[in-house]
Amino acid sequence: MSSPHAVPIKTPEEVEKIRIAGRMAAEVLDMITEHVRPGVTTEELNSICHEHITVKQQATPAPLNYRGFPKSICTSLNHVVCHGIPGERVLKKKDIINIDVTVIKDGYHGDTSRMYYVGEPTVRGRRICDIARTSLEKGIEVVRPGVTLGDIGHAIQKYAEGENCSVVREYCGHGIGRLFHEEPQILHYGKPGEGLAIEAGMVFTIEPMINAGKRQVKLLGDDWTVVTKDRSLSAQWEHTVLVTDTGYELLTLSPQQS
Ligand code: MF3
Ligand code: CO
Ligand code: CO
Repeated sequence: MSSPHAVPIKTPEEVEKIRIAGRMAAEVLDMITEHVRPGVTTEELNSICHEHITVKQQATPAPLNYRGFPKSICTSLNHVVCHGIPGERVLKKKDIINIDVTVIKDGYHGDTSRMYYVGEPTVRGRRICDIARTSLEKGIEVVRPGVTLGDIGHAIQKYAEGENCSVVREYCGHGIGRLFHEEPQILHYGKPGEGLAIEAGMVFTIEPMINAGKRQVKLLGDDWTVVTKDRSLSAQWEHTVLVTDTGYELLTLSPQQS
């Protein structure tokens, strides 16, 4: 017999646990903001986040040792699309950086990322960060029971391509809960009405990676870092989203934001 839902529907108790983990992840992004400045290394940002998550929040950074990932957060700079590994790189003025935090608390995951400017951004840097943020918002605004995954992807793709940017296809959003990555896959491109119709109680991330140039990416020799093939700037924002009876709830708002 096939299960009634291909995609897990969360109970209110599970949603509350994801909400708590999600709020913690967002709180880490708030906390790290003041540390993102010229002269700091991405390794230092990793250490500060790791300490905050493990000591203050009594929680677990999900990326650490996940499929061999060596650090507690992802730091993706400039033309890095995603999964950048914190290290010796020193931040400098005009860099743009995505910090992606996933926290496990009481067995449940919360996953969110934002872009940060190092000092004053260039016009191009600001523009790609703004377009990626609005791309995420365009996807979120569509979410309510009955819409399809294609509707979400289409809203993002239409906006981003309308701004002469491109949508990365090799990496996508994902269901989330007890597992870091579960069903369904959330593509950030698509056609209206295609794919699975979403239902209340589903929880998934939306996390479009938007390139200023072409959409093609390549994987570096460390087997994690994904960069744009044409070395154009790339930006990404991510929220964990609950489908409610009437629309959506963002589960990765910080205490400051909600
Ligand atoms: N947080 C990323 C996501 O949004 C996944 C990072 S996987 C890691 O899905 F291993 F690189 F941490
Ligand atoms: Co994610
Ligand atoms: Co993430």
